Amino acid sequence: MTTLVHVSDLHFGRPAVSEQLDSLLEAIVRLSPDAVAVSGDLTQRCSRSEFEKARAYLDNIGRTAPYIVVPGNHDIRWLGAVLRNLGIVGFIGQRAHEHKYSRYKRYISEDLSPSLTVPGVVIAGLNTAHGITRGSLTRRLRDLGVIGHVRGDDLAHVRNTFEKAPPEAARIVMIHHNLIRGQISGRHGLANTEEALRAFASMGAELVLCGHDHQEAVHSVEISETGLVISTAGTISSRRRSGHPSSFNLVRVEEDSLIITIYAWNTKAGDFVPAGEHRFPRRARKDR
Ligand SMILES: [Fe+2]
Ligand SMILES: [Fe+2]
Repeated sequence: MTTLVHVSDLHFGRPAVSEQLDSLLEAIVRLSPDAVAVSGDLTQRCSRSEFEKARAYLDNIGRTAPYIVVPGNHDIRWLGAVLRNLGIVGFIGQRAHEHKYSRYKRYISEDLSPSLTVPGVVIAGLNTAHGITRGSLTRRLRDLGVIGHVRGDDLAHVRNTFEKAPPEAARIVMIHHNLIRGQISGRHGLANTEEALRAFASMGAELVLCGHDHQEAVHSVEISETGLVISTAGTISSRRRSGHPSSFNLVRVEEDSLIITIYAWNTKAGDFVPAGEHRFPRRARKDR
């Protein structure tokens, strides 16, 4: 069995809740996962001080387990990049792109779409936070720079990662933006959900990890003959939806089953406690 702790949307800065962040670290030590997956939005305003805190927190996680992280829409300087693209502050083209990810790259990782292999599992991280791009343009002004997009070029990275992985490893993709419309928010995170899910399934993915919606959810979608499980992690911050508690997901990959347990913040206990379990047969693997 391989276990993963899947967390998202820590939003270092004003929304950070130190009691919950401390408890999360304790839970990670207690659960002793094989890896920790962090699906973006480490910061709130993409500031240096927020990234410094996020960096220190990831270092702490790294003392217990290897981790993998992708950027979220809050972790990129997309507005500054747009202004530079327009020549407003004197930069163009490539410089604007560099500006967009400069803080994330400096403090978190040069690799926007990393991968991680641990016994039993391979995770291909995929950056879906591009700010305003042709692929994620929306008529809803409030969603400008918020909506994510899976780029065709980046799919080759997922394919390569999976091709190089041991055949028995469960194939997992991690992105930031939610693939399924949020129950409370009513919003899709990704502009090209259907296309992305079909691509992931065709590459043999069994599970997709995502966040962004700030409400936890676990789904199984019949996108291909084998189907895909989607683990959406909630937030660990004060940016909760309608009083919904902070939470993270524990993923267990067993020989025949995929089990996702939601751990929700319990104020009375002052800790994260199990609050629901979802179990799926590993059809994809059996079909291989
Ligand atoms: Fe977020
Ligand atoms: Fe987000």
